[in-house]
Amino acid sequence: MRRHAKGLDRYNFVTITLHWLVALLIFGLIVLGFAMTRRSVDPALQFSLFQWHKSFGMLALLVSLVRLAYSLFGPRPKPVAEMSALEHGAARGMHHLLLLLALAVPLAGWMIASVSTLEIPTFAFDLVVIPHLPVAKSDAAEAWWTTAHAVLAYLVLALVALHASAALYHHYIRRDAVLIRMLGLRGHR
Ligand code: HEM
Ligand code: HEM
Repeated sequence: MRRHAKGLDRYNFVTITLHWLVALLIFGLIVLGFAMTRRSVDPALQFSLFQWHKSFGMLALLVSLVRLAYSLFGPRPKPVAEMSALEHGAARGMHHLLLLLALAVPLAGWMIASVSTLEIPTFAFDLVVIPHLPVAKSDAAEAWWTTAHAVLAYLVLALVALHASAALYHHYIRRDAVLIRMLGLRGHR
């Protein structure tokens, strides 16, 4: 059940930590994903970069799951007073889309590893083996999920650019508390 915590007009420590942790993981994974798939990368280095990408990717999936649950059931601040109902609705729509894509991208990545006929195991930081999903393996399925994973990842990048631009617009043009309260700062706005 959703609830607006009484008197709470800023995001709490848990929401702020989860928001910026997921943002950091997603940025890092997009840069790593892009770099590791370049043709010029040495094959031995490429293998190791893929393994790091899969470990951090599964961590991103785990943190995004916790974050989705907290976002749905945890406390939420009241909308910023200066925002119209339409603006608030648009912001919520974008947040829901980002929460969903933060799960869809790593799940598509997990599908690549699962359907691959190479059957390379996925280790989480060389500690435990992450089981592959029980799906049929084929080169065609691997190609399909590879494209889906890349399209979804770059879609997230485009949407985050819009989302971050909106945050900067609120901060510098509208001069309201939207960015300040996600940074955990008190501010005088
Ligand atoms: C939020 C999490 C993730 C993000 C943002 C992300 C992002 C990316 C990006 C940008 C690429 C390069 C796409 C291209 O230019 O072709 C990529 C490739 C790849 N990712 Fe992820 N990834 C994530 C999670 C995962 C997970 C959990 C796995 C597997 C367990 C995974 C497996 C792969 C693989 C195998 C490739 C290479 C595909 C190929 O052969 O070209 N990713 N990822
Ligand atoms: C430079 C990067 C980013 C900036 C500057 C930024 C900024 C912000 C700000 C200011 C808010 C508060 C909006 C409000 O109160 O209405 C917010 C909320 C939110 N942002 Fe971001 N963000 C960034 C990256 C991301 C990324 C990568 C994701 C997910 C993929 C994301 C997902 C969300 C979600 C879901 C919320 C709603 C609150 C929550 O449930 O955590 N953001 N962001």
